[in-house]
Amino acid sequence: MLNGLYDSKKNYKNLIGGDWLFATDNANLKIFSPIDGSLIGTVPAMSCEDIDYAMNVAKKSQNLWQETPMYMRAEYLYRAADLLKEYKQVISHVITMEIAKDKASAESEVERTVDFLRYTADIGKSLEGTSVYGENFPGGSRDKLSYITREPLGTVLAISPFNYPVNLSVSKIAPALMGGNTVVLKPPSQGGISALYLALVFKEAGLPDGVLNTVTGSGSEIGDYLITHPNIDFINFTGSTAIGHHIAKTCGMIPIMLELGGKDAAIILDDCNLDYAAEQCVAGAFSYSGQRCTAVKRILVIESIADQFVALLKEKTLKLKSGSPHEDVSIVPLINDKSADYVFGLIENAVSKGAEVITGGTRNDKLISPTVLDYVTTDMEVAWEEPFGPILPIIRVKNIDEAISIANRSEYGLQSSVFTSDIGKAFTIARKLEVGTVQINNKTERGPDHFPFLGVKSSGMGTQGIKYSIEAMTRHKAIVVNLAAPCNKKR
Ligand code: NAP
Ligand code: G3P
Repeated sequence: MLNGLYDSKKNYKNLIGGDWLFATDNANLKIFSPIDGSLIGTVPAMSCEDIDYAMNVAKKSQNLWQETPMYMRAEYLYRAADLLKEYKQVISHVITMEIAKDKASAESEVERTVDFLRYTADIGKSLEGTSVYGENFPGGSRDKLSYITREPLGTVLAISPFNYPVNLSVSKIAPALMGGNTVVLKPPSQGGISALYLALVFKEAGLPDGVLNTVTGSGSEIGDYLITHPNIDFINFTGSTAIGHHIAKTCGMIPIMLELGGKDAAIILDDCNLDYAAEQCVAGAFSYSGQRCTAVKRILVIESIADQFVALLKEKTLKLKSGSPHEDVSIVPLINDKSADYVFGLIENAVSKGAEVITGGTRNDKLISPTVLDYVTTDMEVAWEEPFGPILPIIRVKNIDEAISIANRSEYGLQSSVFTSDIGKAFTIARKLEVGTVQINNKTERGPDHFPFLGVKSSGMGTQGIKYSIEAMTRHKAIVVNLAAPCNKKR
């Protein structure tokens, strides 16, 4: 079935060493759709023994892969991009079924990943080393010449989150491969089937056996075994801050990259285009029901224009469509009951402490209506917690200094937006915000994917973004030639 990816009962398999494999004990996880609870299929619940096999295959395959010329590595990524484009409808449908991502966003995720693969191949080929003479340093001379190249780290453990099961797997896999590493991918349980289709694409692109391997299974079950495995040379993790912290404390002496949670603030100044800012904030807060790390998760608005701005937010939020992700909607069922309970609990907590519901505030199973909360105060949980749901809390502030102070009090530091007509004021504020990225007059967002993307504080460690990811998953190698050495003399 589909070249071995699954059997007649939609029991999906992992790709290890070029083979499609079930778990040795045939254990599996049933994957149900958040849309209607229907069974989509199963993914293997891999055991420690299965993980050892995948890790050994990845390690054995790495030497051959790092000797593969850059232009050939790039060719595999170009072919994978072409195949992913061919499979777009199939894979985007699976994404929709598996994580209730609306059809348009699911297709956009696949298209974006096609571009990601191609750009990574391009940029990977342009990576160069450098050289430096000893003379640059006092006492040095041209008799010493250091040739500096970049070398792969070895085997990368890539762990991806549910909300971009294809794109945030490729954002790790593609740069790792161009850097000469082999990869073991642990996809999210809810999103694992989508990620296995991605593995099929790489296999059909002809990627040599063992270069990319997948291990599905519950992160809470196999996570620690994966992150402490002796064959791993780098961990590239995207997910919640709680798990990221756990990984950082547990994995030992190994380089890691963490892209974690966020509580992105949009600062609305009294000299901005309010209608445009409202448009951006609604789109930033509610696309894919706010299940984005870079979603706008709080508004800090100067109180003199707050009434006007809230009215605009209300008008635009009420236009949002909710319902089946198979339709053209923004508001979709959340990933699971636990998330929906948590999000609705934040709404109830805020209302109990005096927040005013401007729109939404209702729930039907996992579908929560887009909820704008006004008069949110800093004693409410929603002022600080990451909902990962369709909530937009509004905190009214007296001035810019208060906005910056509240923005920086967050444990998170992913992105912020500043809306103003004064670019100088925007830069002044941006320099004071403790985040990885400040968007001036735009919603918070990750793309375009060649930009650096990073979080500080509880939002992460290290910098993603195609060139930055390749650099993160490679290391320098210096070869110093001592030109004055006697052995260099002509005989
Ligand atoms: P999550 O629960 O942390 O899971 C992320 C990945 O980690 C999944 O593959 C998960 O597997 C795995 N995992 C779980 N426990 C683990 C453990 N003990 N050891 C190793 N891996 C483990 O996050 P999520 O619910 O998928 O995604 C939502 C969160 O990720 C939000 O906080 C969001 O802000 C953040 N996120 C951040 C970014 C960013 O770029 N900064 C992007 C997307 C999402 P299972 O699925 O099997 O549990
Ligand atoms: O949560 C996923 C994170 O990477 C956000 O991506 O492109 O929706 O801003 P984006």
